[in-house]
Amino acid sequence: MPEILVDKLTHTFGKGGPNPLTVLEDINLKFESGSFCSIVGTSGCGKSTLLKMMAGLFEPSDGQMTLDGDIIRGTDRRRGMVFQQDAVFPWMTVSRNISYGPRLRGASREEQAEIETKWVDMVGLKGFEDRWPRELSGGMRKRVDIGRVYANDPDVLLMDEPFGALDAQTKERMQADLLETWRQSKKTVIFVTHDLEEAIFLSDKIIVMSARPGRIRHIEEVSLPRPRTDEMRLTDEFIQIKRKLWAMLEH
Ligand SMILES: Nc1ncnc2c1ncn2[C@@H]1O[C@H](COP(=O)(O)OP(=O)(O)OP(=O)(O)O)[C@@H](O)[C@H]1O
Ligand SMILES: [Mg+2]
Repeated sequence: MPEILVDKLTHTFGKGGPNPLTVLEDINLKFESGSFCSIVGTSGCGKSTLLKMMAGLFEPSDGQMTLDGDIIRGTDRRRGMVFQQDAVFPWMTVSRNISYGPRLRGASREEQAEIETKWVDMVGLKGFEDRWPRELSGGMRKRVDIGRVYANDPDVLLMDEPFGALDAQTKERMQADLLETWRQSKKTVIFVTHDLEEAIFLSDKIIVMSARPGRIRHIEEVSLPRPRTDEMRLTDEFIQIKRKLWAMLEH
């Protein structure tokens, strides 16, 4: 079962140079297979840096990360990343964007069509298959992004504030849809956000980081039952967790 372990990870930008900047210090984490974990922390605490290292976009200056026991080095389709800015190709239709990864790997026409049908439907874009990105709203482009990462069939999805730019209603709908996709696919998700409510609604576990250099300040297990519903956002349990995490981020 794929599981990510982060072991004594420290990262210093410009190490050995005149202006070294340590952004992450002694990070030890375990992401269980199939779980949904969020990482929260104030701006600049190193959340994106940590996620990019898990994607293999660059290496930590100290410590290591493993996926299923294999040291993470370089990018790999087992780890898919959704960036904060949408990364859809403007010159491809919705369908073609979604099947981009499989096509690159030489999937047949039939396989591509099958993947397109499945993921267009899963991310809620049925009827928009042949549209161009410029014809879509921000939320819809985000759906294309998510579908494209899922279509690559990764073991782990790394998501960096994917809904940060969306209005509140669109965001809540996207959260519910993401949970449904996650429930059906059973992939491990690591989700960065600075929206506490979003983190609580989505996660099994919330990792709270302290300000720079980023360290693990607290890990909150969220025991709200699944499937999660919007009404849960108003329960005492939910509000108590929110209050607790809020106080931690304040200090
Ligand atoms: N390539 C880089 N070279 C030098 N410093 C960097 C680089 N990337 C990030 N940093 C610095 O590392 C720190 C952490 O950045 P990071 O983007 O990981 O923060 P973050 O927690 O994701 O913040 P936000 O919530 O604003 O997205 C910041 O001070 C940033 O300036
Ligand atoms: Mg960031």
